[in-house]
Parts: sequence; structure tokens; C-alpha cells
Amino acid sequence: MWAVGDAYARYMGRWSRPVAEGFVAWLGCGDGLRWLDVGCGTGALTAVVAARCRPSTVVALDRSAAFLASARATVAAPVSWVTADALALPVRDQACDAVVSGLALNFLSTPGAAVAEATRAVRPGGQVAAYVWDYAEGMTLLRRFWDAAVSVDPSAAALDEGHRFPHCRPAELRTLWTGAGLDDVEVVPIEVPTVFADFTDMWEPFLGGQGPAPDYVAALAPAARDRLCAALRGAVAARPDGPIALTARAWAVRGRRP
Ligand SMILES: C[S@@+](CC[C@H](N)C(=O)[O-])C[C@H]1O[C@@H](n2cnc3c(N)ncnc32)[C@H](O)[C@@H]1O
Repeated sequence: MWAVGDAYARYMGRWSRPVAEGFVAWLGCGDGLRWLDVGCGTGALTAVVAARCRPSTVVALDRSAAFLASARATVAAPVSWVTADALALPVRDQACDAVVSGLALNFLSTPGAAVAEATRAVRPGGQVAAYVWDYAEGMTLLRRFWDAAVSVDPSAAALDEGHRFPHCRPAELRTLWTGAGLDDVEVVPIEVPTVFADFTDMWEPFLGGQGPAPDYVAALAPAARDRLCAALRGAVAARPDGPIALTARAWAVRGRRP
């Protein structure tokens, strides 16, 4: 699923970046810290950390070598890009001041183990923090998409990220962080505008195969894809070919290693 960096950047990376700006401002990073970005993908969060935090070091890792190649090509700052798994971070115990992650938690097979592993990597007093889309409600692009998909194909409900991904609500995130032994756990919403030039600007990225919704579209026969496209257009487009203004809410969570 995670293989074409440009297609991902157009589909979701363009919205992850402004959330990353709000997230990093909320973290309130000091100068000279050692950062680790887990599941960095095409580098949306990594770029913001590098640009805003005056880091001492930034390590960014992902399992997708293709996404890392895309990140390397677009993020000019000095970053160590590493192909690795979130469940086996290639760093010593307590080697980092901050371990962060953008939009990746729900794609990990065992999110609890990943948060424990991030906690291992951070020094006492350091932060473990992440953000995830509010798939169930506030990420309106995906909400409208899955609602349209279910309206034309009820079986799509089983694939709806709002149902499938448990870690997209404040209570679940808080439980995950406290379960890893982190203190001072906080969860806040971060909302950004998602404005599309027109319906094509919204629809075409769903054809790029880089995420659960695009994967679902790719598996449809042409007639079913056309029905879904028409249902989504009907749900979001007030005027043909006019701009479409939605909002995207993420939940951000942070905690401190005791
Ligand atoms: C939705 S993308 C988020 C990318 C980026 N952080 C952003 O905000 O745009 C999820 C990323 O998690 C990565 N990923 C999934 N499972 C992983 C794992 N077990 N270890 C490391 N990365 C993983 C994928 O390769 C993908 O790049």
C-alpha cells in the first residue's frame, strides 16, 4: 500500500503537513533535542521538526523504502533516513529526547507494543507524542468518502477506517499512552482546513492506491467506481467545478517518560 510517494503526498501528505505544524507548536520543542520520527512516510512531520525545532539530530524511519526515497528527495534538511520497523527501533535505550509519529499508529499491527518501544527509546523526562486522524468524525474527507462508499455498497462498512481503527479517539489514545507507563498524558484536537480546488482535486488522489480508501477504490469494477464517484460528488459538491472546503481533525497525544 505505501509505495508511491508522490501519490501519497497528493492524497494525504498535503494535509498531514499542516497538522504537523500545529502538533509541533503544541509540543513546544526546545532547541538542540534528539528527535525520532516513527513511520515518517514521505516526511511531512520530519520536515516540520527539522524546520521549526533547531534539532541536534533527526532520525526518521519507515518500513517503506519507496516512501523514504521520496522523503529524502523532498526534505532538504539533514535527516538520517532509516528503513526500519516501529516495533524494533534501531536506537539504544533512552537515546532520544522526543519520539514522535504522524498518522502511523493505526497502521501498526500492535500499537501498544509500538508505544512501549518508543518509550524505551526516550530518556526520562522526554516526550512520546503522536497524532492520528479522527477517522470516526472530524476527518471529513474520509468520513464523506466512507459514507458515500457505504451508501452504494453496504459491505464497504467493514473497511471504514472509522470502525476499523480503534486508536482514533481520545479515550483510546489516553489508555495507550498511560498503558506504556507515560506520565502527564494529554490529548488535544488539531483541526486544519482541507480546501479542494474542485471535485477532481478531491477525487483523483483516491485513484492513487496509497491508503485504505484508495485501496478500496482500486479494487472496484469501473461501473462501481463511477457510482461511488457520483455519490461522493453529490455529498460534497455544492456547485459543479467550484472549490470544496472541508476540515480535517486529528487527535494529538503526548506523555512524558517518568
Ligand atoms: C499514513 S502514512 C503516514 C506517513 C507520515 N508520517 C505522514 O504523516 O504523512 C503511515 C506510514 O506508516 C508506515 N508504517 C506502517 N507500518 C509500519 C511499521 N511497522 N514500521 C514502520 N513504519 C510503518 C507506512 O510505511 C507509512 O509510511
